[in-house]
Amino acid sequence: MKAELVLKDLKAYVNGTVTECCLAIKNGKIMKIGKEQQMPKAEAEISLKGLLVLPGLIDVHVHLRDEGKAYKEDFHSGTAAAAAGGFTTVLDMPNNSPVTMSAETLKNRMEKAEEKILVNVGFYSEFPKSLHEIDEIIGAGAVAFKLFLSEQVGGLNIEDDNALAKAFKKVASRIPIAIHAEDKGIIKSVEERLRREGKSDVEAFLEAHSERVEAEAVKRVLKIAGEARARVHFCHISTKQSLNLLVEAKKAGLPVTCEVTPHHLLLSREDLKRVGALALTMPPLRSENHTKALWEGLKNGWVDVVGSDHAPHTLAEKSADSVWNVNVGIPGLETTLPLLLSEVNAGRLSIAEIVRLMGEDPSRIFGLKGFGSLKEGFRADLVAVDLEREFRIDASRFHSKAKFSPFDGKSVKGMVVKTFVGGKLVMDEGEIVAKPGCGKIIKAQAKTGSVNEP
Ligand code: DOR
Ligand code: ZN
Ligand code: ZN
Repeated sequence: MKAELVLKDLKAYVNGTVTECCLAIKNGKIMKIGKEQQMPKAEAEISLKGLLVLPGLIDVHVHLRDEGKAYKEDFHSGTAAAAAGGFTTVLDMPNNSPVTMSAETLKNRMEKAEEKILVNVGFYSEFPKSLHEIDEIIGAGAVAFKLFLSEQVGGLNIEDDNALAKAFKKVASRIPIAIHAEDKGIIKSVEERLRREGKSDVEAFLEAHSERVEAEAVKRVLKIAGEARARVHFCHISTKQSLNLLVEAKKAGLPVTCEVTPHHLLLSREDLKRVGALALTMPPLRSENHTKALWEGLKNGWVDVVGSDHAPHTLAEKSADSVWNVNVGIPGLETTLPLLLSEVNAGRLSIAEIVRLMGEDPSRIFGLKGFGSLKEGFRADLVAVDLEREFRIDASRFHSKAKFSPFDGKSVKGMVVKTFVGGKLVMDEGEIVAKPGCGKIIKAQAKTGSVNEP
């Protein structure tokens, strides 16, 4: 059988080791991994000149915006940023306009995305007002539910433990429930006091979004989820205490998973003070003892996922005088992999860990069968990187509409050179070379929560 494409002269991360090999691709899937003489005849060949090929990475935490917030990011610009950053699959958060929180809003979003996307996209839904809609939302293919506890976003009253318990029980273990763990009640009361005192600087923001805010929300959700036997995924864990709570829950056998962001791993509150409002995000950057604890959790395997929490805003929205009026969040799709490859070069991280945290574990947790590893029969979603190339992060050149980053100007060693989606070259040396529409809309299968075969 003839392949469509053979990639040669490369090293690839296959079965836990980096080996010199070739990859044959047919019908968007990996047809064969082997030595050059084992390759089938092909319609085309590309020499990758010694580049390292990894499975196309999965970013489970992306705010693609579009629809009412397209001025911040749209499906095309957001997935172009993903391809440029080596991500071939992203999961889209639901705090959109309109909020994704019904089968209808979900289907509309899928329809609008389909012709614009350059990488594969799956969708989160917020919880609906009435619980009977949960089945319809799962039936429409949501990959997971998302629950913001820092502010009311969806239809479920986040102050009502009983309502949360009922919703969690209804979802049970069908698809994961991802949590933004910050307690709205505490944030609001502290923020109101600080506002009355006329405080509106970065220090005030840190006081309102304290470590306790995160820990209380984690404790609350663990209690409710434990009783409901729901599969809960904690987004952007940022403190030592909340990570410890999750480690204890895991040891007790609860089906919980957690994610950290590159900014919480690599930056601290000192950077927030240096950079200012552009580095404001929720949860905020923390002191170095927390950063250290997150690294330890990652190295020990307690941290399941690195997610970018790509949260684009306009520069105007990032530059209000008062922190209470700044739009919080930072774009991360184009910085995450170069930053982590730099950590590989510095000896702090391994390629195996990158693939586990942004390929294998995301695929397992979110039921993305056939994604996140280099295996015959899996999707030919690939990223080719050059571990030797050094460059400076330049946010003005992002494909994302959000042209800022707390990492702007930082020197990194490790460049994303080529990204293939379903065997098609989408990004080459920083340029998008494919037409929109080549990504796949990912729909979870209603009962099992695992997506259609690749
Ligand atoms: O910093 C954040 N930005 N945290 C969130 O939870 C939301 C996000 C956004 O949508 O901008
Ligand atoms: Zn969040
Ligand atoms: Zn987010």
